[in-house]
Amino acid sequence: MKPVIAIYPGSFDPLTNGHLDLIERGSKIFDQLIVAILRHPEKAPLFTLDERREMLESMTGRFKNVSVDTFDGLLVAYARSKGAGAVLRGIRAISDYEYELQMALMNRKLDRRLETVFMMPAEKYSYLSSRLVKEIFRHGGSVRGLVPKKVEERLHEKVMQNAKGKMQNGKARRPAGRR
Ligand code: PNS
Repeated sequence: MKPVIAIYPGSFDPLTNGHLDLIERGSKIFDQLIVAILRHPEKAPLFTLDERREMLESMTGRFKNVSVDTFDGLLVAYARSKGAGAVLRGIRAISDYEYELQMALMNRKLDRRLETVFMMPAEKYSYLSSRLVKEIFRHGGSVRGLVPKKVEERLHEKVMQNAKGKMQNGKARRPAGRR
């Protein structure tokens, strides 16, 4: 039988323990799993593409059949270019279902050979999302246990960088304001 290659696409901004849980589950049922980061998401990401890729690579290195890549344009075209027969997506709650169903059916309309496989992460991650992680972190809350330690450290660095940037901009603007 032909090996089944699956694509796990997403923004991964940032990678959460829910994503990792799904990657581990996917690595057990597919011969090869490609975690594909969307290069140009609609909203400006917090982490650069290189940062997201690096975090994913370091956290998935232990899965021998998992690789990390980036893509742009249509997912179906990217999947075809990789010889993939499946797309892996996570469903956490019923609220995810409508959007995921729409996307899966549209992808099937675009390429009827591409199957979408939905998997559920562990229950403890069923309320977890990258968006909430960013929001909690921005307001000083703890994200321990929600993201890998490395991602938590990167979040700290990012907040420091952003704060430094704001201070420098403030300093640069002040003399102009006095004019
Ligand atoms: O983790 P996300 O942000 O929910 O991932 C969304 C993603 C990357 C899977 C979706 O936006 C996507 O596939 N984008 C590529 C463009 C595309 O093929 N759009 C049509 C989907 S029906």
